[in-house]
Amino acid sequence: MASTIPLDTKTLKVSPVHPPKITSVKPLAESTGLSSLPSIYTFTHNLHDEPISDDPEDSIPIIDVSLLVSGSPEEQSQVIYQLTKACSDWGCFMVINHGVPESLTKAMIEVFQEFCNLPEEEKQEFHGNHVMDPIRCGTGFNPSTDKVNLWRDHLKFYTYPEFHSPNKPVGFSEIALELSKRNREVAIVILKAISKSLGLEESYIDKASNFKLGLQIVAANFYPACPEPERAIGIPPHSDHGLLTLLVDNGISGLQIKHKGKWINVNLLPNALFAHIGDHLEILSNGKYKGVLHQALANDKATRISIAMPHGPSLDTVIRPAPEFVDNESHPPKYIELTYKEYVEFLLSGKICSKFRLDFEESEAIYAS
Ligand code: OGA
Ligand code: NI
Repeated sequence: MASTIPLDTKTLKVSPVHPPKITSVKPLAESTGLSSLPSIYTFTHNLHDEPISDDPEDSIPIIDVSLLVSGSPEEQSQVIYQLTKACSDWGCFMVINHGVPESLTKAMIEVFQEFCNLPEEEKQEFHGNHVMDPIRCGTGFNPSTDKVNLWRDHLKFYTYPEFHSPNKPVGFSEIALELSKRNREVAIVILKAISKSLGLEESYIDKASNFKLGLQIVAANFYPACPEPERAIGIPPHSDHGLLTLLVDNGISGLQIKHKGKWINVNLLPNALFAHIGDHLEILSNGKYKGVLHQALANDKATRISIAMPHGPSLDTVIRPAPEFVDNESHPPKYIELTYKEYVEFLLSGKICSKFRLDFEESEAIYAS
């Protein structure tokens, strides 16, 4: 009679049966004859949150970053004004004329696709065991807190202050290094301008976050075509930790942001970066600027790839509201004080909802990036 208990042939020990650990959705998505969504991927969408993407009033602000570098003083102050509005009304904006070559972005998307195409056993070596491991790939956010399987595979690696990257496929780490550097340059210009938009000195965020040792992450996401996208989710609603995330994708839509209670589709302009505020800018501004809630939907047409680059404080920095935004009467601090590292670990432990925002009102789960 055939045994159903797996036999470890090297040690000849009988091991207990565990449900298979899911490390990647790609093989499932590519399996022939998959016509419906396996129930472990079912995500309950909130039906009150219909997108209103076609309303012209609801178009995401556009910031021409070249004017911050080489514009006249009038142009610069105009962009700072636009940034104040974009950050306080939206928490996000499209960045144009940023100087990162389109060919570099395309090369990163292509080489990440090649990474995803590596045999599953080869990717295993990058799985990582701990949330702070500098290179991690897999699916979902955090195996210990996830309640639903996500229709998304990811690869995350820290590229600053120390550069880490998978060493395969050929060319991956060179492209990732160049893109990270160029992306960081844009983030620095934007964060200076955001400091000014808050009425603070230009270098305020840089100093308060110890940005010269700040954590930069490349979070590459792979969303294969899904047989029943409306029943699945790529990434559930969350805000990113860190100060600012700059994101590109392969032109397939799926990203949405929450604006005035409704979901808005983010369709990136050609060669634009999508910039959004992270939790630590929210803390630093004592809630003047909010870490924008966003989610990624699945679709049944084509593979979507996105490369998100969150820029954060140094891991041992405690981010607290700037004194300019706090007084003990009408504007008390709204956030508890944690180092960035504690914050990330806390977030990934699933406890953050009730703890970090002293005035926490959002009823939705906030997940880690
Ligand atoms: C993320 C994220 C959105 C996207 O990686 O944190 O929100 O469009 N990604 O892939
Ligand atoms: Ni995100």
